[in-house]
Amino acid sequence: MCGIVGYLGQREAADVLLGGLARLEYRGYDSAGLATLGDGGLEMRRTVGRVKSLVDSVAAAPVSGSIGIAHTRWATHGRPSEENAHPHGDAGQRIALVHNGIIENHAAIRSFLEQQGIRFSSETDTESLAQLIGFFYSRNGDLLGSVRQALSDVQGTFGIVVLCADAPRTLIAARRGSPLLIGVGEDEYIVSSDASAIITHTSRVVYLEDNEIVTLDPTGMHVATIDAAPVEKTVHTLVMKLEEIELAGYEHHMLKEIFEQPETLRNAMRGRLNRQTGEITLGGLKAGEREIARARRALLFGCGTAWHAALVGEYLFEDLARLPTDVDYASELRYRNPIIEEGTLAIAVSQSGETADTLAALREVKTKGAAVLGVVNGVGSSIARETDAGVYLHVGPEIGVASTKAFTAQVAVLTMLALYLGRRRHLSAERTDLVLRELEQIPDKVERALELSQQTKLLAERLAEWDNWLYLGRGVNYPLALEGALKLKEISYIHAEGLPAAEMKHGPIAMIDPGMPVVVIAPRDHTYGKIVSNIEEVRSRDGRVIVIANECDRELERLADEVLYVPSTIPCLSPLVTCIPLQLLAYHTAVVRGRDVDKPRNLAKSVTVE
Ligand code: AGP
Ligand code: GLU
Repeated sequence: MCGIVGYLGQREAADVLLGGLARLEYRGYDSAGLATLGDGGLEMRRTVGRVKSLVDSVAAAPVSGSIGIAHTRWATHGRPSEENAHPHGDAGQRIALVHNGIIENHAAIRSFLEQQGIRFSSETDTESLAQLIGFFYSRNGDLLGSVRQALSDVQGTFGIVVLCADAPRTLIAARRGSPLLIGVGEDEYIVSSDASAIITHTSRVVYLEDNEIVTLDPTGMHVATIDAAPVEKTVHTLVMKLEEIELAGYEHHMLKEIFEQPETLRNAMRGRLNRQTGEITLGGLKAGEREIARARRALLFGCGTAWHAALVGEYLFEDLARLPTDVDYASELRYRNPIIEEGTLAIAVSQSGETADTLAALREVKTKGAAVLGVVNGVGSSIARETDAGVYLHVGPEIGVASTKAFTAQVAVLTMLALYLGRRRHLSAERTDLVLRELEQIPDKVERALELSQQTKLLAERLAEWDNWLYLGRGVNYPLALEGALKLKEISYIHAEGLPAAEMKHGPIAMIDPGMPVVVIAPRDHTYGKIVSNIEEVRSRDGRVIVIANECDRELERLADEVLYVPSTIPCLSPLVTCIPLQLLAYHTAVVRGRDVDKPRNLAKSVTVE
């Protein structure tokens, strides 16, 4: 779930490992640790809290060696503590292992090993795997064979790197359902769960696939399946740039990413829109053209913010492409036994491309015969590789745990997909032209909406003390109410709820009192009159109303405590601008509350466990 770094080369491993962990900090974690193998044998350091504590601990008691493994842990089994932090070892103290994911049958393995007299020293599921490898190794002395044997016995998901005291120049890594890539440098290898830890050293990488295992040693890199079939790998070039993962003067990555949106939206659309011909060029769809032409129904799925983008997509697909569309949480879809009729075009939406639930849902609908497209940011990610075709977001790495620039790009890509599908169905050339013209102007309008930063900051200072907020929107802006509430919840820890505005009177209105901020998204569209009535309903109960409205809409000033004006656009594109004040308000509120905006508690950037 969180971060893995492994190193084999000529340099001090601890420097590379700690530098790599620092690059992975954005992913959210609760403890960190490393192990190196040098003249002093296997040396391990583990700490609770930030990577900085681990750096301090290594500075106080240095470790040596030019081979090592490191980890930032996002606890799934066992509270965050030094004993539960990775690496984990075996009873014979020959093995050290870092693991992302979950070993589902850890209890059975543990009880089997305990019956053999092995004592455990942590509460984690991971230790059962480390001990199992050690158990086999103590009997047969074959490291690779023991790792293979143990991995065939475990159920669940893993990305692992193994270090063994008896193999001073060998690292073994393997994956099933949790990403791992290997940076191939000059006389060195850097293994990581995330390209950010590799890019400072090399841009040449090999992506490990599920059920593959790699041995790195002085003779090179040897990849095979876990059950020993040899595999040929290709070396890819990372497209990521170092500047993209640095703060560039901003206080937080989230703020930087919010402000990057005019540019990331331009990048997401670059070369894809052609006003002259009314054509949308989405190169990544070539492989799926036949299925797309035959589509009779769309099924969009994702988690969290990606699910919200999918909900916006539903409105767009139905409105622009007249394609019946359903949206589901990936986590629900995968267990529902979904009905996949012929002509179902399934679309997985994901920033990271590694979300376990989304990946599993993708596999489920694919097995049932759906053609699957990906709307993904992570280039070369698992979802990108397993879909039949897809469209990349091209927003660069998103570091802040709260997704912002990926959301707007997802919405922009889904809009382009809706137009692409629409042109092959019922969408007129006139309407296509209108939407394209407006779409081209969106980055400039987002730029103007960003000028709200100061106003939202002042507003946040006034509202941050309140513990319960409501977000209301209608139509295509209903998912934005959900997104606004999610942004606030995840980084400020304030309770917030998003609702279709009309639903408020069916229950939640009971909660409204002078202490409850109600954020209403009210652009001038066909539901405007209705939403004004909803605002009146809140006002009559003394709720504090904050409205997001179109510039020139002075009518709402009379009704609201505060109006945040955004540039007007056509209704189907309004989420791309209304989301800006929502993101800014959440950001500034979290800052006022003194939260760790980029690394909110309990959250991980990419959720690679169920
Ligand atoms: C967004 O702010 C969240 N941190 C989270 O909901 C996220 O959108 C979700 O986990 C899905 O991630 P993905 O887009 O990488 O699949
Ligand atoms: N399940 C393991 C643990 O709780 C790994 C967690 C992670 O992926 O960081 O230690």
